[in-house]
Amino acid sequence: MAIEGSLPFYKPLIAREEIAQLVEAVESGWLTTGPKTLEFEAAIARYVGSHFAVGVNSCTAAMHLALVAMGIGPGDVVLTSPITFPATANVIEHCGARPVFIDVEPDTLLLDAAALEAFLADPERQGVDAETVKAIIPVHFAGQPCDMDQIFALASQYGMAVIEDSAHALGAEFEGRKVGSDYGLGFQGPWASCFSFYATKNITAGEGGMLTTNDAELVDQVAVLRLHGISRDAWKRYQVASYQHYEVLFPGYKYNMFDLQAALALPQLAHIDDWQQRRETYTELYNQGFSAIEGLQPLQVKPNRRSSYHLYVVMVDSAQLGVSRDELLNRLAAEGIGVGVHFRSLTVQKFYREKYGFHHGDFPVAERASDQVLSLPLYPAMRESDVERVIHTVWKVLGV
Ligand SMILES: Cc1ncc(COP(=O)(O)O)c(C=O)c1O
Repeated sequence: MAIEGSLPFYKPLIAREEIAQLVEAVESGWLTTGPKTLEFEAAIARYVGSHFAVGVNSCTAAMHLALVAMGIGPGDVVLTSPITFPATANVIEHCGARPVFIDVEPDTLLLDAAALEAFLADPERQGVDAETVKAIIPVHFAGQPCDMDQIFALASQYGMAVIEDSAHALGAEFEGRKVGSDYGLGFQGPWASCFSFYATKNITAGEGGMLTTNDAELVDQVAVLRLHGISRDAWKRYQVASYQHYEVLFPGYKYNMFDLQAALALPQLAHIDDWQQRRETYTELYNQGFSAIEGLQPLQVKPNRRSSYHLYVVMVDSAQLGVSRDELLNRLAAEGIGVGVHFRSLTVQKFYREKYGFHHGDFPVAERASDQVLSLPLYPAMRESDVERVIHTVWKVLGV
């Protein structure tokens, strides 16, 4: 039960403009994939600087379709980060492939490019046949891009496809280029970037996702796969004067974005830069507010990146603070502050731990992070006074 006057972990900013667009879409009589989806796809491609964008019903769907379209299947290995939402590894399992986790950097919790390089130099040492390593899913955790320079270079060298999990990272930049573009890095292999418009994301459709790429062939495949694998989607079928039969090209999926989602999310794009700025300002306020507390460590942002500031994550060092992360979570919740945990390592989750026989100590950085990460409220609907309240409450419950 919510405590009166509590500050939720997340609350979206849905203005009259978004509601008006939604009503207009409903009144148009076209409710499923159609003109609003096309408009939203074009707007996202323009915003991130990609040649193409394909709307789907989640980031999970975007990643799954990218893997399928790139031919990933049984016997293949896909590398990824253990500090992520389960969807990132689940989609690899859905293809019948095997996820292999690479540990993260301690200060950013992003996939560690040096550990990746070491793995690729000798995968057999970890029981992986080099021939089977087909793709990598780097996760732009909390909105900070991974080292894409290094990841593309290693993907080129070892012949891997790259599917970016950009669920957190709409608006983020690597070396001045937006996540969702090719960063001007000239990667020649198969590549796609996958975004989420889930309820808590920087812009939201309630649920929704988008795949961006510069690869026309990949886009055509994904567009067919997202709607049952049939040759022309409903929108196109109803546009012509005479009835057109469709062909089933592949037993595809029911993953299409529909116009009500696009109508809700599209007008939010006009605010994204302003909202990102507010997220950054609040992040700085939090960082200043906690700088004197030994044992509360915020994530670091590297100098060649701009985060989307999707999450505010601090690492709670229980040895220094005398309080565990879970105890701090409970104390904050009891004071009416919404909190989250992003994320406990997938290597400690029952399914992955048991299936792949992981042991304590296999992923030391991710395992430590699992016990230390704590997310505090960060969203543009908050006011500065809300941020100050959270800082004050953290000090109070820690008794420092
Ligand atoms: C890192 C990460 N990847 C993927 C997803 C899946 O996104 P969606 O809910 O749009 O499928 C999420 C969802 O929160 C996420 O946090």
